[in-house]
Amino acid sequence: RIIYLNGEWLAEPEAKVSVFDRGFLMADAIYEVTCVLDGKLVDYAGHAARLQRSAKELGLTLPLSEEALLAAHREIVARNQMDQGMIYLQLTRGVADRDFAYPPADTPPTLVMFTQSKNVLQNAAAERGIKVVLLPDLRWGRRDIKTVQLLYPSMAKMEAKARGADDAWLTEDGFVTEASAASSHIVSAEGVLITRDLSHALLPGITRASVLDLAAAQGISVEERPFTPAEALAAREAFITSATNFVVPVVEIDGQSIADGKPGPLTQELRRLYIDTRR
Ligand code: PDD
Repeated sequence: RIIYLNGEWLAEPEAKVSVFDRGFLMADAIYEVTCVLDGKLVDYAGHAARLQRSAKELGLTLPLSEEALLAAHREIVARNQMDQGMIYLQLTRGVADRDFAYPPADTPPTLVMFTQSKNVLQNAAAERGIKVVLLPDLRWGRRDIKTVQLLYPSMAKMEAKARGADDAWLTEDGFVTEASAASSHIVSAEGVLITRDLSHALLPGITRASVLDLAAAQGISVEERPFTPAEALAAREAFITSATNFVVPVVEIDGQSIADGKPGPLTQELRRLYIDTRR
């Protein structure tokens, strides 16, 4: 793979970051994952805007202009002859002596981009649906910022797998926040799409926003509010959204089937619509 590192295009073995990088020492870094479908960027504008927002919230500055950032995304696809998969981007506060205080503002940030190929269209989980378990959301209080502090989501994923499930739905104060690395949604018995409203408690999912627009355009009522695990268990359908998985049905929560335990029709329709409108 060809890696982008601080303005250079490097072969994988040459792409190296200092052990003093604050991304490594303090998780002082943000990231984005943008999907590539048929060699094209999916929902790029949303990912670029969220990256700028994450940077602003942490006082980080992107070393590239908007135009140069888009050009770099296109160039990494071309250089890696990428058809399907994802582009990972990480921006850190750069290299400095270990200290809890930030280094001077003129410290050059570290910007890395790499690609990971994956057949995003053929997704067994999308066909059969996934099983989730409920776990407490023990992440920090600014989940709206896409930081690389991913240890708890990794632990939750491992715990889900240990329990024979595919993923976790995290809960806080009796409500679902989101999945370990995706947004959570349900469709009520009345056919209303319910998804948690945006706050510091969850990441503003780019796929979430797109899918809500598609649903509204289909005449489906959408309610943005927190929902409980009990509501999810009583739902007609449940699903997750994320850049790399698009829309994936949830068919079981804590061992209990959602409706008949099969992927829901609205979920499947939204997946089809999302993919069709992004190709
Ligand atoms: N994860 N919530 C969390 C905690 C996430 O990590 C993600 C994405 C989402 C969905 O956001 P989007 O639709 O913008 O991808 C929600 C990415 C894909 C990852 O960490 O790999």
